[in-house]
Formats: sequence, structure tokens, C-alpha cells
Amino acid sequence: MSSFRFDLILILIFTIHFAPALSDLVISKLDRRIDLSSQIVRMTLTLKVENTGTDPVSEVSLAFPEHQANNLALLVAVSTKGKGKSRGSATNLPIKIKQPNDSPPSLIWYAASLPKELGKGESLNMDVLAVFTHMLRPFPEKITQAESQLFLFQESAHFTSPYNVKVQSLTVKLPSENVESYTKLENTKFSGSEVKYGPYENLPALSYTPVIIHFPSNTPFAVAKELVREIEISHWGNVQVTEHYNLIHGGAQSTGEFSRLDFQARPHLRGASAFRNLIAMLPPRAHSIYYRDAIGNISTSNIYGDSSKTLLEIEPRYPMFGGWKTSFTIGYGLPLQDYLFQLGGARFLNITFGSPMNDVLVENLTLKVVLPEGSRDISVSVPFPVKQSQETKISHLDIAGRPTIVVEKVNVVPEHNQYFQVHYKFSNLSLLTEPLMLICGFFSLFVACIIYMHADFTISKSSSSYLAKLQWDEVQGTIQQFQDIINRCLLIHDKLEVSLRELSRNGDVQACKAVRKSADSLLKDYSKESKPLLAILQSSPQAAHILPKVEELIVKEKDLQEKIMLKHTMVVDSYEKKSTGRDFENRVASIQQKISALRQEVDDLLEFIEDV
Ligand SMILES: *[C@@H]1O[C@H](CO)[C@@H](O)[C@H](O)[C@H]1NC(C)=O
Ligand SMILES: *[C@@H]1O[C@H](CO)[C@@H](O)[C@H](O)[C@H]1NC(C)=O
Ligand SMILES: *[C@@H]1O[C@H](CO)[C@@H](O)[C@H](O)[C@H]1NC(C)=O
Repeated sequence: MSSFRFDLILILIFTIHFAPALSDLVISKLDRRIDLSSQIVRMTLTLKVENTGTDPVSEVSLAFPEHQANNLALLVAVSTKGKGKSRGSATNLPIKIKQPNDSPPSLIWYAASLPKELGKGESLNMDVLAVFTHMLRPFPEKITQAESQLFLFQESAHFTSPYNVKVQSLTVKLPSENVESYTKLENTKFSGSEVKYGPYENLPALSYTPVIIHFPSNTPFAVAKELVREIEISHWGNVQVTEHYNLIHGGAQSTGEFSRLDFQARPHLRGASAFRNLIAMLPPRAHSIYYRDAIGNISTSNIYGDSSKTLLEIEPRYPMFGGWKTSFTIGYGLPLQDYLFQLGGARFLNITFGSPMNDVLVENLTLKVVLPEGSRDISVSVPFPVKQSQETKISHLDIAGRPTIVVEKVNVVPEHNQYFQVHYKFSNLSLLTEPLMLICGFFSLFVACIIYMHADFTISKSSSSYLAKLQWDEVQGTIQQFQDIINRCLLIHDKLEVSLRELSRNGDVQACKAVRKSADSLLKDYSKESKPLLAILQSSPQAAHILPKVEELIVKEKDLQEKIMLKHTMVVDSYEKKSTGRDFENRVASIQQKISALRQEVDDLLEFIEDV
């Protein structure tokens, strides 16, 4: 395993004798630390820059190899100007890309502007934080459920500085004390969980010496392919936050198809590389918290809290292995007065930008701020570059719709979870629109009722139109009860599916059988309940056009029920006898196909009779 395929690894070669125009600066000391303890790679640089030339300098350049620059999620630099050890207060330096004409290829340059020019002989201390995503490459790319993940990290032992560096060192922090291999140069040390390169003295500008570290890591590689956060302001006292996640395990792919039976046969085998839960850190006063997926609310989630935060533990219905995906939604309410403030005649929302989940990388974040209807003069201020647009959200009781700010950003890391503001103006009169509409609405309903009651009296109770109307009401009522029963059956089907998933997690055969027993008796009850309803429909001439569909629905649902029961029995039995096999899996798969097709037909039929 420790032999690399070097042909896979990009090695960059620079011209060492490249002499940049800015070479009047010299870095007298540079310490670099790289933290590989999570999927998000953080590099911190502490450097001391000296102006050895005669002209004052207003910019300090940093250069990163292209493969790093492409994955750079955040770059911040602060300066502390001072002589010797006395360091003044830190100043944030604006940074922009500034590519010199004579740059070697595969190198991207960033220029940090100094608050004040650095004069001849003066020096400056700088701290830089660079955050990278997608920098760890799983190697091997595919592993089985039982194996640990291994990653390759490629760097240069010498910083690609545009200036000569007098003394420099690099420390790489690994997630654990284990390492498969690392490139050994002169002055290389491995101790604890750190690989140290250096110190190296008097290196010329743009020195580059590739090193590769191969190490195990089983920290969660949770990547949100997409996150849509919606923040809705209600001036009646609430800020509602709803977050839709599309999450994937971004580490090494789990090989082959995941076999539930294999997993069941060895329930204690926990995939080392899988993750089971994630923690969302919500504000302390968050309330009405929920967590649901396509099937419904997930009650196995836990909520803890103290006065400074609320922790929501999110546990997907199955453990997440490499390449596996899950979609879910979390929602919570926040007290308005903690987030909305007055400023002159305007209001502003001040709330955090990113995901409340630690160490989740968000590839595409869409943030929507839904303002109350009637808001105007809207402006947004976010402390980093984003794509901005505006749309309108219409919900019940809205006339013109609510102005909605849409902010999009790619590669969002926890460091982006900063406060941002939305400023807007709003007249308090608009606040009365909805109650006024409600009052008008009730008043018109009231008037309509009076007219209707009067109108109804004009129809004689024995008239045929009156009887037809009564019959039609009965048919509709019956169909509704019938739909209700079918929906309850479908819910039980879902419960059976969930029980199989539970079985794969906890191995509790008895619990799974108990679910089937109670499902079976409930389904029988429902079937009894639906008989008199069908009789009513069969005897009513008004139901003639819908009856065939209802009868078809009954047959299909029954068929679906049988198939699901069959599959349930097969899986539980095989689990009990610990017998698996390709043949068995094929049979389960073929039943599953029929189940999916039937479920689609049942849903379609339900929809059809709903429209009657
Ligand atoms: C899920 O939880 C939310 C919030 O507690 C609740 O409003 C909703 O009715 C629940 N849905 C189901 C299907 O239980
Ligand atoms: C937003 O809120 C944070 C935390 O309460 C605070 O530190 C920050 O100053 C606020 N920003 C503005 C512009 O009010
Ligand atoms: C993420 O955004 C990029 C650029 O806007 C787009 O090309 C890509 O399809 C998006 N991915 C997803 C999963 O939405």
C-alpha cells in the first residue's frame, strides 16, 4: 500500500532563477502550519517581511500553485506592524488577485495591500490564513466497508514565496499519530501527530520541493452538494430558518453495491469510514426545532442545550458510507428581537451566513432572505464576495408577494459562518394589511353564507336537484374516507420499510417481527373498514364514473401489500438464518422493482380520485 503511483501525482516545476520585480522585500522568518485533521485543509502562515530596498512598498504578494488556488475557499491576511517583539493591533488587509506578466505558469498571485507603505529598512509582521477544500485525495479511491480511509496530501516543503526567505519551516498536523508514509528530506521529523520540515535557511524566491504525505483519516467527510437556507422574517415576532441539505459522504468510495445482508450478517461490523451523525450548533433561543427527510420527522435526533447554544444531533436513517447520499431538512424559529434591529428609519437583519454544522463543506449555498410584504429600499452586505439577485415569494394572504433576497456562493467553509446584514425600509401600516384582509375575508364569507342560506331555502326539499346534491355529497364524503384509509395503509407500508432499515442498524429481529405483526393486523382492519364504503359507492349512480378506478385502487393496494409483506418476511428470515447469496439478493431486487412500480400506480390512482 505504501507504494505510490507517482504518475498520478502532479509535480510542478518552477524556474528557480525567476526574479520577480518585487524582490526588494525579504522574508526574514516564515512559519507555516497545515492542519489536516478534517476534510477542510487550513494553512496558517506567520511571517516577518522586511523592506531591504530603497523605495517604499505598499503591497505584499503571496503565490500559490494553481491546483491549490483552484481550491482556495478563503484567504485572509492581517498585519501587525511593529519592531521586535512588540506587536500592535491587527489590521485586516484587502487582498486581490494580481498576476505579474512574467509569472511562471501554474502559479496564482495574490496581493495584500498594506494600510501604510513600508519604508526603507522597515519591517512588518503578517498572519495569513488560507482555507482549502478538495485537497485531500483518497488513495486508494475505493475501499470496502471494513477498511479505513487513506488520503494523499501534496505540498511543497518550501513556501512558494515571491521573495527570498531567510528562515522557514513547515509543520503538518495529521488527524492521528498514524501515518502510512511521508517524503523525507533533510531536517524532516515525525513526532506525535505532526510532520515537521525545516528549518531551512536562505532559500531563493519561488523555491519548490514537493512532499507527499499518505495518512489515515476517518473524520466525517460530509459534503453538502447543495444547501438552500431560507430565512423568513415575520414582524409578528419570529425569524423562521429552514435548511434543505443534499449531503454526500465525500471520502473514499465504498466498493461494490452495499449489501444490507452482508451488513446484517455482521451487525457489529461498523464501517470505520462511515459517519452516523452530525451536530448542528443552533442559537441558544432556537425553538420549534425539527429534522425531517422524505419519509417524515426523524425523532431519533437529539436536542441538548445550555445558555450559550442549542445542539441538534442529526442522525440519518442509515450510516453514511463513502459516496452515499442523503437529503434532509432542518428548521427552527428564532426570536425576532435578537436578529432584527432599527437604524434611523430603517431596519436591518443581522444573522449568520453559513451552515450551523461543524466541518461540513457546502459546495453550493443558496441563501434566501424573505422579507415582509411591502419592504422596500433593500440592500445586503456580506463580508465576502457573493452572487446576488432578488425574487418574490408568494404565500397565502399575500397580495404582491414578499421581496426575497437570493445570495449564492460556492465552496462555503465554516469560516464563512460570519454575520451579514440585510437593510430595508418598512411602513408599519403594511403590518395591518394582513389582519385587514382577514377581516374583509371573514366579512365577505359571512355575507356569502347569508346569501347561500337564503338561496338554499328556495329549493324545495323534495326537488330532484336537492336529492342529487345530497347524493353527490355522500359520494364525495365516502371517497374522502376511502382515500384516508388508503393513505393510512401506505403509511404502514413505509413503517415496514423503515423497520428493515432499523434492523440493519440494530439487528433486533424481534422488534422487526413485532412491527410486521401489528402492521398485518392494522392492514386487515383497514380492509374491513373499506368494505362498507365500497358498497355505498357501488349502490350510488353518481359514483358510476369513479367506481372502476376505486376498484382498481383496491386491487393494486392489496397486491402491493402482499409484495411488501413477502419482501419483509424474506429479509427477516434470511437475517435470522444468516444466509445470504447472490440468488437471494436478485429475488429481493426483483420484488423491490414490482413494489416500486405498484406504488407508483397506487399514487397515480389516488391522485386521480382526489381530483373528482
Ligand atoms: C414534524 O415536526 C414538526 C415540528 O415539531 C410538526 O409541526 C409536524 O407536524 C411534524 N410532522 C409529522 C409528520 O409528524
Ligand atoms: C451582528 O451581530 C453580532 C453578534 O451579536 C455582532 O458582533 C455584530 O456587531 C453585529 N453586526 C452589526 C452590523 O450590528
Ligand atoms: C453548483 O454551482 C455551480 C456554479 O454555479 C453549478 O455549475 C453546479 O451545477 C452547481 N451544483 C449543484 C449540485 O447545484
